[in-house]
Amino acid sequence: METEKVTFSEEKTLLDALYAKALDSQAAEPILGDAYAAEVVAKIDYDFGKIKVTPRNAGIVAIRARQFDAWVREFLAGHPNATVLHLGCGLDSRVNRIDPPTTVRWYDVDYPDVIEKRKHVCRPHPAASLIGTSVTELEWLESVPVEGPVLVIGEGLFMYLPEEDGKRLLRRLTERFPSGEMLFDMFSRSWLRLENHNPLIKAEGGVHWGIDDPGELERDLPLRCETVVSASVLPGVDRLRRPWGTVFRLIAAVPPLKRGFRLLRYRW
Ligand SMILES: C[S@@+](CC[C@H](N)C(=O)[O-])C[C@H]1O[C@@H](n2cnc3c(N)ncnc32)[C@H](O)[C@@H]1O
Repeated sequence: METEKVTFSEEKTLLDALYAKALDSQAAEPILGDAYAAEVVAKIDYDFGKIKVTPRNAGIVAIRARQFDAWVREFLAGHPNATVLHLGCGLDSRVNRIDPPTTVRWYDVDYPDVIEKRKHVCRPHPAASLIGTSVTELEWLESVPVEGPVLVIGEGLFMYLPEEDGKRLLRRLTERFPSGEMLFDMFSRSWLRLENHNPLIKAEGGVHWGIDDPGELERDLPLRCETVVSASVLPGVDRLRRPWGTVFRLIAAVPPLKRGFRLLRYRW
């Protein structure tokens, strides 16, 4: 890790997610309490004042990350020899928050330019390796030994992939690893259309893959859906600052909206 700052010339969704975690960590009562995000922000040369994340809406990212962290801890408690594929990791310090034993092989995977930046700003961890690639260029998987069950994490990622590429990736994962779990968040198809009006998401090529029925993946792939939870009812929603707590309660009361943004957990 170097002390030189890395530069971003424009806002990116990974910066929004990072900044939200940094703001949450500075709140009087943090939801995620990421001890590393503010340190990473401090190493980045970007005017975070221009980012649309504020102390008021930062908690939304924090509750999602907290739920994924809880599932990761649960999986690793049962499988201390697991392989973890943290896909689309961005500048997230999950490996440091979880601090797995070195019996775990943890891979942080993102585009090569993101991984280059990550090397400069994120703390290394003895269990972690970095892979710079598009997750849909499947050759990268050949460099990951097949050892132990696998945990695949795709937080804020799969919606960015074209559906065919995403399914090809999931299929290859289930073919390469005899057993495992996948954790990811997904929009419904109608919510996906709304998200494509967001200029930041548009600038990153838009979101393409939505799921209305979690059973769709069970039909197409050798996966079993274990858990589906609407983001609107995640633990911590009650602590979101106004107006977000109320907005989420309203979303939770309207089934098509409640299905709009969900966290999913599959096994094979
Ligand atoms: C919304 S950010 C989320 C970052 C991180 N998971 C978090 O929650 O802080 C989406 C991330 O997915 C990455 N990403 C999108 N498409 C990708 C692809 N095809 N291959 C690898 N990474 C990808 C982006 O570079 C970015 O880091």
